[in-house]
Amino acid sequence: TPGGSDAAKRRAGEHAAEVVTDGDVVGLGTGSTAAHAIRALGRAVDDGLDVRGVATSYASRDLAREVGIPVVGLDSVERIDVAIDGADQVDDGLALIKGGGAAHAREKVVDSAADRFVVVVDPSKETPELDRPVPVEILPDARATVRRALRDLGGTPTLRTAERKDGPVVTDNGNLVLDADFGTVAEPRALATDLATIPGVVEHGLFVGLADEVHVGGADGVRVRTA
Ligand code: A5P
Repeated sequence: TPGGSDAAKRRAGEHAAEVVTDGDVVGLGTGSTAAHAIRALGRAVDDGLDVRGVATSYASRDLAREVGIPVVGLDSVERIDVAIDGADQVDDGLALIKGGGAAHAREKVVDSAADRFVVVVDPSKETPELDRPVPVEILPDARATVRRALRDLGGTPTLRTAERKDGPVVTDNGNLVLDADFGTVAEPRALATDLATIPGVVEHGLFVGLADEVHVGGADGVRVRTA
């Protein structure tokens, strides 16, 4: 698995799944680390845990169904008890970059609706300051204007493509993704506000002030960081 050991991801995911209790509506994140939490929840459901899952992507919905977690639509819930989701980077203040799997728009809706948002990562995701390109989901027709606006903010945008796909990546919502490189993001909250105000931006991958706790899987245990 790129950028971190699968054992560490599994420890983080399984540890986070333990916070879920009977009757909870649970946000099911996207990515290889959240997948470990979903599998652990599936085993708990087999053992009698009564939960309903809200998926953040086709991938997490399919996995939830496969492991036997009852899935309800995001459009049918007003609030979520616990969301468990991965991240591409976590800074010292628990600000996140997400969207490596292009799922950040639904993830942000689900993670924001949760009373308790638990992030699951391996130590390779931890960094003092965010410096990865920021994924920005955009309306397809706004590609040129958003690109210009991102440049005006000091970013270098690249249209996301995938190895096994000709042309751009199309998200679960039918949109495109620009990965905007800002170098080191000195002020994540300010950049998040600026990105959100660009017409044609559906959602960006900066998650600031949302994470309640981060479970970091390690070689011999899990470290919990809290906001
Ligand atoms: C999905 O768009 C991202 O926000 C994921 O949560 C992120 O890519 C984490 O994936 P891994 O756990 O596989 O690194």
